[in-house]
Amino acid sequence: MQTTLAFDVYGTLIDTNGVVAALQKLVHDDAEKFSQTWRDKQLEYSFRRGLMQNYENFAVCTSQALAYTCAFHKVSLTDRQKAELMDIYRVLPAFSDVKTGLARLKTAGFRLYAFSNGKADALEMLLNNAGIRDLFLGVVSVDDIKTFKPSPATYGHFLQQSRAVGASAWLVSSNPFDVIGAISAGMKAAWVRRSPEKIFDPWGIDPTITVSSLVELADRIKLS
Ligand code: LAC
Repeated sequence: MQTTLAFDVYGTLIDTNGVVAALQKLVHDDAEKFSQTWRDKQLEYSFRRGLMQNYENFAVCTSQALAYTCAFHKVSLTDRQKAELMDIYRVLPAFSDVKTGLARLKTAGFRLYAFSNGKADALEMLLNNAGIRDLFLGVVSVDDIKTFKPSPATYGHFLQQSRAVGASAWLVSSNPFDVIGAISAGMKAAWVRRSPEKIFDPWGIDPTITVSSLVELADRIKLS
């Protein structure tokens, strides 16, 4: 069985802080804090919707998180300004190591997939815009099963869609909750820690490997 790699999208391939430049024009010095609150709330909303079994897609979580973030930071944005920020979210950039790392992994013979909370159409647009869609065999979205990571059902869905088995399938993610979720569901997982300031959750479940970039992943991961 060939080794399959499932790449998380938001925060791993694609830089959610890509909105900061646009935010600087709207909220000035608060841009980075605003971006962080927005991302944290987006994920919290996805977790809560999963637990409540009250599914709305990830774009809804993102949009409702934006409304919360405006209220939290006491920033008043027009509907048009919010729509513009949501538009930027659809064309966020990839991290600088992504294209080279993915190309090397593909050449080495790994089966590459994108695997995300985002809807398939949003993912196709994002990956095409970043010039990396062609490097993947496919895109798997949790939207098919109407729940979110880290539900074990999402990792099971990925394995089924990619026709992989846990022992030879890796999740690659910068999000510790995603790494822990995948390992708990029987996959291997690489934690992409681009900054030494990032902390892993002390749950007693460690990443199979930790790398600082996808280029380092390509250097270290072996076909099983
Ligand atoms: C994703 C979220 C976890 O892309 O960022 O699935």
